[in-house]
Amino acid sequence: MFKYSIISVLFLICLNLNSSDFKKANEVIELRKSAMQGIWMRVKRLAPFIEFNEDIEYGPEIAKQDAKEIKILLSKTKSLWPDISNLSSKNLTNATPAIWVLPEYFEKLYDQAESSAMMLEESLDKDNLEAMDLAMCNLGNACGTCHAAFRRLLTSQLANEASAWSGRYIKNCKY
Ligand code: HEC
Repeated sequence: MFKYSIISVLFLICLNLNSSDFKKANEVIELRKSAMQGIWMRVKRLAPFIEFNEDIEYGPEIAKQDAKEIKILLSKTKSLWPDISNLSSKNLTNATPAIWVLPEYFEKLYDQAESSAMMLEESLDKDNLEAMDLAMCNLGNACGTCHAAFRRLLTSQLANEASAWSGRYIKNCKY
């Protein structure tokens, strides 16, 4: 009898640990998804400003703020990929298991995105149009390359979400 109760207590503790891990994983997944949405929201309004430079409501001050926040969001989301959140097999995330197989490459693409966001902020500060174009192209390239390698996209999501992944946010990129 005693033996069984020990076993069931252990089992319950185990279950509990697992469920709190699961809860943590879900929280971290939700957090990185909404941060990514926040990045996209800013890129989406910043890109036409950089491409056409003639939006009246959206001026250079907001553009600088957006570039800065993209940089901050990228750096904050870097730590939101713990092993426990490798749950694409359960359909809880679109992040592919490749992230945990190739962490160096994943980080490298993160660094590229971050340094492009930094360049973007600088070029906006200096009002350097050519550097803005280049930084926006590089940033888009980093988003697009990472999504192509590490984010699974269901066909049903493709049509309305494609622009966020493609990485082609302005037209005159050289690659
Ligand atoms: C180093 C890799 C990497 C970089 C760089 C990156 N992303 Fe992502 N992004 C991901 C992964 C992985 C997911 C899937 C996250 C998940 O489902 O848990 C994702 C998800 C998203 C989502 C969907 C979030 C949701 O609601 O499911 C959007 C939008 C997005 N990214 C936009 C961007 C934009 C815009 C950039 C560039 C400025 C960018 N990302 C840069 C890896 C990256």
